[in-house]
Amino acid sequence: MEQILIIDFGSQYTQLIARRVRESGVYCEIMPFDVAAEFIREFKPQGIILSGGPESVTEENSPRAPEIVFQLGCPVLGVCYGLQTIVTQLGGQVTAGIQRELGYAETKVDINSQLFSGLKDVGTICYSDDLQNSLHVVDSAVKPRNDVDFSPTDAERLERDVERLFKINVWMSHGDIVTEIPAGFVAIAKTAATEVAAIENSAKNIYGLQVHPEVTPTEFGKEILENFLINICKCERSWTTANIITHSIVDIKDRVGSDKVILGLSGGVDSSVVAMLLHKAIGEQLICVFVDTGLLRLNESAEVEATFKRHFGLNLIVVDAKERFYRVLEGVTDPEEKRKIIGNEFVEVFQDEANKLTDVKWLAQGTIYPDVVESARTKHGKSQVIKSHHNVGGLPEKLHLKIIEPIRELFKDEVRKVGLELALAQELISRHPFPGPGLGVRILGAIKAEYVDILQQADAIFIEELINENLYHDVSQAFATFLPLKTVAVVGDARCYDYIVALRAVRTTDFMTAQWADLPAAFLAKVSKRILNEVQHVSRVLYDISDKPPATIEWE
Ligand code: XMP
Repeated sequence: MEQILIIDFGSQYTQLIARRVRESGVYCEIMPFDVAAEFIREFKPQGIILSGGPESVTEENSPRAPEIVFQLGCPVLGVCYGLQTIVTQLGGQVTAGIQRELGYAETKVDINSQLFSGLKDVGTICYSDDLQNSLHVVDSAVKPRNDVDFSPTDAERLERDVERLFKINVWMSHGDIVTEIPAGFVAIAKTAATEVAAIENSAKNIYGLQVHPEVTPTEFGKEILENFLINICKCERSWTTANIITHSIVDIKDRVGSDKVILGLSGGVDSSVVAMLLHKAIGEQLICVFVDTGLLRLNESAEVEATFKRHFGLNLIVVDAKERFYRVLEGVTDPEEKRKIIGNEFVEVFQDEANKLTDVKWLAQGTIYPDVVESARTKHGKSQVIKSHHNVGGLPEKLHLKIIEPIRELFKDEVRKVGLELALAQELISRHPFPGPGLGVRILGAIKAEYVDILQQADAIFIEELINENLYHDVSQAFATFLPLKTVAVVGDARCYDYIVALRAVRTTDFMTAQWADLPAAFLAKVSKRILNEVQHVSRVLYDISDKPPATIEWE
C-alpha cells in the first residue's frame, strides 16, 4: 500500500495533517523528527510531509529533517517549520521574527504550480488591482510591471495573469520568514508579510508551504494537500473503511492463528470496535470480559450483554464485581486514591478471569493512534521508540500475554467509521466519553451503594431528556454528579433532609479546555423537576456553570 510519512516537529497540528491525509484516502504515519534513517527507508514512503513545530530554525540546536528525507527521491512537502527547515537545510535563509503573522492572511498563489493547480476551478479569481502587487519572484516572464496596463479591458493579458495568480485566505501561525530561497527553488505564493509564502523545486518535487493547509480556516487546504498526495506523490485513494477492515482482519488472522485472545470489553467505542473486528476475524477464539464495577451507568451491564452476547453472539463473560469494588473503596475519600484503587481492582478481577481460562495467548487492547503518537512524542530523543509502543495504556505484564492492538493505527473518527461499518449502533458509536473510574469520580468522597443508586437514576433522566430534546449531540459530555451533602426540602407537609445532585454539560473539541453548555432554562427546569419527583433522597438539583479551566470536567 502506498503510504505517506509525516515527520513530526512537535506542532499541535501534526495529527490534524495525518487525519486530513487519511480523509483523502491515503494511509500515513507520524514519526518523530529524530527517527533513525533506517525506519524511514523501511517505511518506503511515497511522499514525506514535514510538520510545523514550536521552535525556530534560527535557534541553535533546533531540529532538522533527517538527511535521508532529501535523498530518497520521493516528493517532500514542508509545512510551516517544515518549509523553514527545508530552506535552511538546502542552502537558503530564514530570518527570525521580522513580522509575526498569526491567524488569517490573504495569500496569492501561483496556480501554475502543481501544488495549487485546479484551485481556480473551485474559487474566486483575483482582479487586476491585485495583480499590480502580486508575485515578482516567481518568474520573470509574468513579473507584473508598473508600466503595464492591467485594466480589465485588456482581456488577453488579464486572462493570462488571472490564470497564474489566485487569491486565497489561509491560516498562518509563524514568526520567521524565508529571506533567501535555496538554489533550484522558486516562490509560488506571497502574503503581505512575506514574499515567500510557498516554494517549489519541481525538478526534485520538493515543496514548502508557510500556510497550514490542514486547518479548516485555510481555504482550499484540502485541495492543496490532495494536489500533493494524488498529483505529485501519485498516491491512490485506497485507505477506505472497507479496506481498513479487510486489512485488519487479514492481519489479525495472520498473527493470532488458532490462539485464543482475551479482551476487556467496556462498552465504550474503542473496545467495542476491537471486539467486533476480532470477532469477525477469529470468532469463537475471542473471549470478552466485561467487569461490572458497580460504578457504571444505569443498566449498562445488561445493555452490553444484550448487544454483544445476545445480538452479535460474542463469547462474553460478565463479571459482577460490585461487592469487590465497594469493599476495597470503603471509606476512601481522596479522588486520586479512589482512581488508583479502582484501576488496581479492575486488573485483579480481570486477571482472576484470565487465570480461569486455558490456552489464552493474547491480550487485545483498544489503543488508538493518538495514544501511539503521544507516547512517541513524550519519549522523543530516542528514535527506537517507534518500535516499542506495545504497552500504551497496557494491562499487567503479569498476565504474560502477547499484546494485539487492532486499532492502534486508527484515529477516533476512523474507529467510529469502522464501528458503523461493522453494524455497531450509532448510539453506541457516538456516545459521550465515560471515564475509566466511572461513577467513582462522580460521587464526591466515600462511595456507597446507596449513592450509586441515586446517581445512576438522576444521570439516566438527564441523558434521556437530552436525547429526547435533541440536545445530546449538541454537547460533548453530560452527566450528573452526586454530592453527599444534605439540604432541607419539604415533601408534602413533611420536612426532609436529603442529598444534592449536580448536572454538568460541556462543549469542547479536545477536552483540554471546555465551556459549560448554556442549555435552555426550560429544559433544565424539566430535568430538575423529573429528578426531584422520580429519584428518592434528592433534595436539590444544581447546574454547573464553570468553564475548564479552571474547573475540570469531572468534579473529582
Ligand atoms: P477532566 O475532569 O480532567 O476530564 O477535565 C477530561 C476528560 O477525561 C475524562 N476523565 C477520565 N477518563 N480516567 C478516564 O479514563 C480518569 O481517571 C478520568 N478523569 C477524567 C473526563 O470524563 C473527560 O472526558
